[in-house]
Amino acid sequence: MDAPIGVIDSGVGGLTVVKRMLESLPNEPIIYIGDDARCPYGPRTPEEVITFTMEMANALQAMGIKMLVIACNTATAVALDKVRSHFTFPVIGVIDPGARAAVKETDSRKIAVLATSGTIQSGAYQQAIHDHLPTATIHALACPEFVPLVESGQYKSAYAGNVVQSGLQSLVGKEFDTAILGCTHYPLLKNHIQNALPEGVKIISSAVETVHDIEKTLRDCNLKNYASHAVPPVFFTSGSTMHFREIALDWLAIDEADVRTIAF
Ligand code: DGL
Repeated sequence: MDAPIGVIDSGVGGLTVVKRMLESLPNEPIIYIGDDARCPYGPRTPEEVITFTMEMANALQAMGIKMLVIACNTATAVALDKVRSHFTFPVIGVIDPGARAAVKETDSRKIAVLATSGTIQSGAYQQAIHDHLPTATIHALACPEFVPLVESGQYKSAYAGNVVQSGLQSLVGKEFDTAILGCTHYPLLKNHIQNALPEGVKIISSAVETVHDIEKTLRDCNLKNYASHAVPPVFFTSGSTMHFREIALDWLAIDEADVRTIAF
């Protein structure tokens, strides 16, 4: 089926999932919406996040998507059930895949979750981890200062390293062998996060496991695109196309990106 897969995030964070999709599913057309104008979602109320998520999903439904990936933990945490019950196409979130990936990796059963305030307050990761590993000890930490570092394009800077270092300070002395990047923006800060965490801690991003879920759903629902050529994604942003393009080219390591404006 050659209809596109829709991917949404509050901004550029969902590109970390798109990167894996391009590697594993190059023939699947992708339409991405980043709501950069209203990013960050982390500090917003659940009602606002649900409203914005539904707006993006409605826009993608009008574009004829066959499946939706909510490549945003904050939106997955509060809006997944609502979106699933509203639309007839399959909807994939990123929290259960992230929790599953961490549970596979941990030996000590002690897991740190780094995420936005909204995701941590929702308790969705804590619940998902305990569903898969009831005896897990979880250290959940909101890192509200991380997303602006990514959205502003400063993720490689030494300044970002300092912000990450102090943001993770409260984990010093805590025991864990696995840390979940529970926000899709955070893989762009992975080097800084790795440097700030004790040596040997395994860092988990939900992207790989999420793409497994996408592949399985494409198969199970008979939605796979059997065309043999790779299709470049189309990106929409509610913010600056120039700024979005810069980050997309860098993160996806591509020379060109079709970036368009969308207004909400
Ligand atoms: N990338 C998002 C997430 O995974 C949202 C970050 C934000 O807008 O605060 O949670």
